[in-house]
Amino acid sequence: MVTRRQPWHLVKASTLHGKGVFALRDIPAGTRILQYAGRRLTSEQADALHPVNPDDPFHTFFFALSSGKIIDGGQRGNDSRWINHCCEPNCEGHENSDGTRVYIVAMRDIAAGEELLYDYGLVIDEDITAELKQNYRCLCGVPSCRGTMIAVPEPDNKREAAAQELRAAAAELQAELDAAMAQASHAPLNTTKDKPGDKAKTKKKEKKNKKDKDKKTKRKKGKQ
Ligand SMILES: C[S@@+](CC[C@H](N)C(=O)[O-])C[C@H]1O[C@@H](n2cnc3c(N)ncnc32)[C@H](O)[C@@H]1O
Ligand SMILES: [Zn+2]
Repeated sequence: MVTRRQPWHLVKASTLHGKGVFALRDIPAGTRILQYAGRRLTSEQADALHPVNPDDPFHTFFFALSSGKIIDGGQRGNDSRWINHCCEPNCEGHENSDGTRVYIVAMRDIAAGEELLYDYGLVIDEDITAELKQNYRCLCGVPSCRGTMIAVPEPDNKREAAAQELRAAAAELQAELDAAMAQASHAPLNTTKDKPGDKAKTKKKEKKNKKDKDKKTKRKKGKQ
């Protein structure tokens, strides 16, 4: 006897947008709920496609793979194409090991009746302007909603902040160096008279420096 696995989900109207996908029963964290099915497109093929709905030209059924290929849920898709976006999602897309398939997986325990949501993190090869963000505006309504379904390049912000900090530190060091150089160029060359024994100390120092230099040179050579 073949036993069919009961589905984890059902499709029905969502208060968030159009149709949505909901948990039919309690779904434990880590469950592979369904595969994101659809026709595979190159990015050029995807760009050439007309909008699914001319009245809502930014409506999308695309899911981008890390290879650059796109799964078009609008062609040969399944129920996964109705899953809405949320900035605090309960699901995420997992690629299989060869990057050809995507599964929608529960990020935490999901109670029966909850809407299944993942972060679309849309990647668009254009400058992310306020207008573009608005075209893909998010209505998920969670406190941390970023206002758009477009991926916000947060690592870039962090990188930029770190770069700014480094630039400020470098400028500070340069200013200190400039001040030290200015002071050195104005200082008299030999203001103190040699005290007896100083020459001997200097010679000793010179000898020690030479020894140290030899040691360092040897160490370097040893490494090569
Ligand atoms: C894959 S469809 C999801 C199913 C959609 N509810 C429907 O009935 O067609 C993706 C589209 O749904 C809409 N959508 C999904 N999540 C949204 C959200 N959080 N805010 C606004 N629109 C959303 C957008 O138009 C998006 O392009
Ligand atoms: Zn949101």
